[in-house]
Amino acid sequence: MRKKLVVGNWKMHGNLVENKQLLDALVTDQTELKNAQIAVCVPFPYLHSIKENLRQTNISWGAQNLSQFDKGAYTGEVSASMLKDFGCKYVIVGHSERRALFGETNQVVAEKFIAAQKMGLIPILCVGETLEQREDGLAEKIIEEQLSVVIELAGIDAFDKSVIAYEPVWAIGTGKTASPQQAQEVHASIRKGLRDKNREIADELAILYGGSVKASNATELFVMDDIDGGLIGGASLIASEFISICRAIK
Ligand code: PGA
Repeated sequence: MRKKLVVGNWKMHGNLVENKQLLDALVTDQTELKNAQIAVCVPFPYLHSIKENLRQTNISWGAQNLSQFDKGAYTGEVSASMLKDFGCKYVIVGHSERRALFGETNQVVAEKFIAAQKMGLIPILCVGETLEQREDGLAEKIIEEQLSVVIELAGIDAFDKSVIAYEPVWAIGTGKTASPQQAQEVHASIRKGLRDKNREIADELAILYGGSVKASNATELFVMDDIDGGLIGGASLIASEFISICRAIK
């Protein structure tokens, strides 16, 4: 049985007071959320307080990025071992905002994936196409390229302890969600590609959908065969929305 997972991606939002209110609401509700594994990926400065707030709960936490390097003269960077120090379980790698705004290439993303795993963190590897690429019929080819660099560098066995998030760039923060059928088609094709390399790993791998998931559309997405949960941006900042999305995992 594949693990179902809902991960909040807070992006560059929040402050100590707001974070505490949001986490208190999630923690109060966690008794009812037994069926879903839940995590929040927060900005680096809040990892310490998140650890204090969530350590006795079923909710895990993680970061939104990490350095591909172990340590050294890399001003402004944060290493996998530092994330480990703060109890992170997950780290998002290759989010489309990192790729588009901060120039992260498939190669760098693959190196970050490896750096995370080396420290025992579970990388949540984001892949997805732009609207233009989709309209040109290139969605699956782009995703295959994004994945193949990681497979080449890390090996297929590395996917044993990782999560993939399919996030069509045109659906992120736009209010436009991929239809359940559109998302399922891509998830199935990702799984099929991996299955050709290692059936067992592909069958056990959690593939999340991300891109304007809300309480109102979570159920129809999560019932699809190959959608194992969600990576939630905007809606993860509103406690009631995020809780409803977590409950949509059956
Ligand atoms: P969104 O973001 O839910 O706000 O569209 C998802 C993401 O970027 O991970």
